[in-house]
Amino acid sequence: MMRLDRWLVTLGVGSRSQVQKLIRQGAVTVNGVPVTDPSASCDTEAPLTLHRQPLDGRLTRHVMLHKPAGLLTAARDKKQPTVMDLLPEAYAAIGCMPVGRLDKDTTGLLFLTTDGELNHRLLSPTRHVDKTYLAHVDGELTPADVAAFVAGLRLSDFEAKPALLEIVAPNEGRVTVQEGKFHQVKRMFSAVGKEVIQLHRESFGSLRLDPALPEGQWRELTDDELRALYADAQMEAP
Ligand code: URA
Repeated sequence: MMRLDRWLVTLGVGSRSQVQKLIRQGAVTVNGVPVTDPSASCDTEAPLTLHRQPLDGRLTRHVMLHKPAGLLTAARDKKQPTVMDLLPEAYAAIGCMPVGRLDKDTTGLLFLTTDGELNHRLLSPTRHVDKTYLAHVDGELTPADVAAFVAGLRLSDFEAKPALLEIVAPNEGRVTVQEGKFHQVKRMFSAVGKEVIQLHRESFGSLRLDPALPEGQWRELTDDELRALYADAQMEAP
């Protein structure tokens, strides 16, 4: 339950005084009934309308986004476009945030959620959530590279944990890592003398990028996908 004025502010409808005015004018219905008291306590799952138009009042969202190259993974940035520009404004207003980061030039699966605890747990190093990437590199991958990845690579400031490298084509590898340090995958390839030309994330924990989702598009998670991700985080699904 939430005060009606607070609910509308959280949804990004306007400032507190703006939404209070709208409510007093009778522009808002909850459950089909006009509510003119800004302090009325409301069930935030109830159907909501503003000026007779339905308004999506949900405060929880879980999104799969097919990230294109060229966007920053950030909640906002003063100069550059971010992945949040691909979603309706209300999603940022209710605190739907990317879980982890992909580099600006990396494409593929990005998961965003309003559940801060889920976000935090999925990124926790103790949780060992697998992330799978397809990498195009500028050299020929060899069994020695596979062995080096499995052994754990020494990078400039840390030792990467053992990772799986599957050679898909002479210059293409599928890597599974459990960590998510800055430029992790690019730096691992660099440690075996290869430069990553293109990087694409295929999966994050049990979540796989939907092959029917074009680059730049997003959709909400299915109940099954959500349940599996909560299980990855060792949390009860809501
Ligand atoms: N590793 C990288 O180097 N870049 C990414 O975007 C993700 C993982």
